[in-house]
Amino acid sequence: MAPRFDITRVRLRNYKSIESCDVELGPLTLLVGPNGSGKSNFLDALQFVADALNTNLENAFRERGGFGKVSRFGQGEVEITVEARLGDRPYSYGIVVAPSGEDGFELREESWRTPDVSGCGNAPPDVSGCGNAPPDLAEMLARIQVFTLVPSRMAAPHWSNDGDRLLPDGSNIAGAVARIERTDPEASRRVDDYLRLVAAGVSVAGFTPSAMSTGTLHAVGVLVALFDGTAPVAIENPEKGLHPAAAGALMDAFRDGVDRHQVLLATHSSDLLDVPGVDSREILAVRSVGGKTVLGSPGPVHRDFLRKKVLTAGQMLRADQLVPEGVG
Ligand SMILES: Nc1ncnc2c1ncn2[C@@H]1O[C@H](COP(=O)(O)OP(=O)(O)OP(=O)(O)O)[C@@H](O)[C@H]1O
Ligand SMILES: [Mg+2]
Repeated sequence: MAPRFDITRVRLRNYKSIESCDVELGPLTLLVGPNGSGKSNFLDALQFVADALNTNLENAFRERGGFGKVSRFGQGEVEITVEARLGDRPYSYGIVVAPSGEDGFELREESWRTPDVSGCGNAPPDVSGCGNAPPDLAEMLARIQVFTLVPSRMAAPHWSNDGDRLLPDGSNIAGAVARIERTDPEASRRVDDYLRLVAAGVSVAGFTPSAMSTGTLHAVGVLVALFDGTAPVAIENPEKGLHPAAAGALMDAFRDGVDRHQVLLATHSSDLLDVPGVDSREILAVRSVGGKTVLGSPGPVHRDFLRKKVLTAGQMLRADQLVPEGVG
């Protein structure tokens, strides 16, 4: 079995609304914060690295509308550094990209560290796609996936090769479910078991996306994203369309999924955060302060409230008290 891969720390500079951040990530992270605070921007920085490694930097910028849309207010160098652990081996990978000419860019620095190589790789800029990272690190980073599932696209007919991994919008869900049934019975069983719990007895057997309710279909996508594969996954609004009473089962699924790989969730669900066992270290609070995104753990008072079970994280979310330390 391949060693587990976890992102342990992310440092960003000038990535969309994030002027600067430096956060540590555990196996399960719940990103919480108001609309527009920058949760998706943070997750997109991870997808950006995956896209650049899967194709190239040029393409990763193009898919986001160009360098000017990625760089904070279209200005300044963009810096992304991801620290990770593969098994018990620490790695890091980073890029610094500067503006150049009319919405162009220049890769200023690409660096990687591995336990096997002393010092910093500081590879020569390779705009063709950060090709100098060690293969195992590059491969794992490239497999990070951020899902924003769209039930209407999931329900529409999709011409897919069922060998394909679930697409970020879930549009090839039928093919993905068929593949998992065929190749990974254990994952398939978990998807089915949790779906029965989350969606009151609905089974994935004989799966026909167009015949499923919107919320159920979204839940199938979440569960497939969760139990398929071994790379870290991020899921936007996993609770979308789900009855509040299903939050406990959904959280059980996340905890189960975390045994396979790291899980990052951007959520507005106080029901999910009400589920017993949510630890303050699993919460990454996000705020926009003066137009800049600030990310961090809740402050010591709120950490204490959670630890002593004075309030649930859900109650704090409803009261708008989950803010990064030092903010508010
Ligand atoms: N290049 C950029 N420079 C500065 N700000 C940007 C840039 N790109 C996006 N933003 C800002 O980021 C904010 C949106 O952030 P994001 O989509 O991450 O919010 P969110 O926390 O995911 O919100 P929601 O809960 O609604 O999904 C907007 O205010 C937008 O103006
Ligand atoms: Mg968002």
